[in-house]
Amino acid sequence: MNEPSFQPTIPLSLPPFGQSMTFRLSPGRNPKLALERLSLGFDHTEGVIGIGAPFARAFPGTIPGLRTFPSLSGVNCTVPATQKDLWVFLRGNDRGEIFDRSRILRSFLEKDFALEDAMDTFFYHGRDLSGYEDGTENPKGDEIAKVAFVPPGNPLAGSSFVAVQRWIHDLKWFQSHPRHEQDNIIGRKQKTNEELDQAPDSAHVKRTAQESFNPPAFMLRRSMPWATVDEQGLEFIVYGHSLDPFERVLRRMVGEEDGIPDALFSFSRPVTGGYYWCPPVKNGKIDLTALGFA
Ligand code: HEM
Repeated sequence: MNEPSFQPTIPLSLPPFGQSMTFRLSPGRNPKLALERLSLGFDHTEGVIGIGAPFARAFPGTIPGLRTFPSLSGVNCTVPATQKDLWVFLRGNDRGEIFDRSRILRSFLEKDFALEDAMDTFFYHGRDLSGYEDGTENPKGDEIAKVAFVPPGNPLAGSSFVAVQRWIHDLKWFQSHPRHEQDNIIGRKQKTNEELDQAPDSAHVKRTAQESFNPPAFMLRRSMPWATVDEQGLEFIVYGHSLDPFERVLRRMVGEEDGIPDALFSFSRPVTGGYYWCPPVKNGKIDLTALGFA
């Protein structure tokens, strides 16, 4: 029997270029037909597709663990929820490939879905635009599948869950501070990527240390920088076999445990936030059995 597998581009390393898009079902459209067309038309070798809880609720099947993104706040920081029906991430080797893939995708999606938002992303030497290496503590090798996908034997086997947040950086503010203060915000040295021995409690890597959670909050981060002429930041994209590890870390980042917000908020703020279920793939198509499709 052909077992469902995960969407094949999720575990891949970052592409040179990407595009992160959200959609909502257009008024009066039939959700079932929309999802069938999506399953037929989407080429899962070109990117990832994720279904949001508001859209999933239109179907008889339920996806345990899928929910809408929470809106949170802490001392001087807010985390907004901008949950949508559908999220698509396209990958490409150059900007031209993204352009072509995006046009093809949108030409078949536009029958049913309205584009809410799109952002081009790019690879920046494996770093966030602040200059710090991003992804160092990601799982590697066989650990990737364990962290990112629902294991075999489960009704959702091969599925993943993704959290997507757009962060806007104030790089001018960040770069106006001496390097040691920047290092204290992240908790690593920009030059060598070494963890600081004496990082403040607010340092990002102290807030997020995956093994300091009980149980550990492992996740697969696949975030990419974005920039327009006058704004820039990080399209934070994180996969997991559940949304819980991400949400526990996010809650600690806003200071829910001890009132200390993550120092990242001093120079960056999230402006979008959505949770999506990434269905598995079966016989070359995304597998929607869990939503109640035959
Ligand atoms: C502006 C947004 C963000 C930036 C620029 C950023 C940047 C970084 C950097 C530079 C590191 C250190 C190197 C590494 O291990 O990758 C890191 C680690 C990490 N970040 Fe973020 N991050 C952001 C948002 C988030 C969010 C929203 C979460 C989850 C809620 C998160 C979770 C993590 C985790 C789990 C680690 C690894 C911690 C460890 O186990 O050592 N990050 N991040």
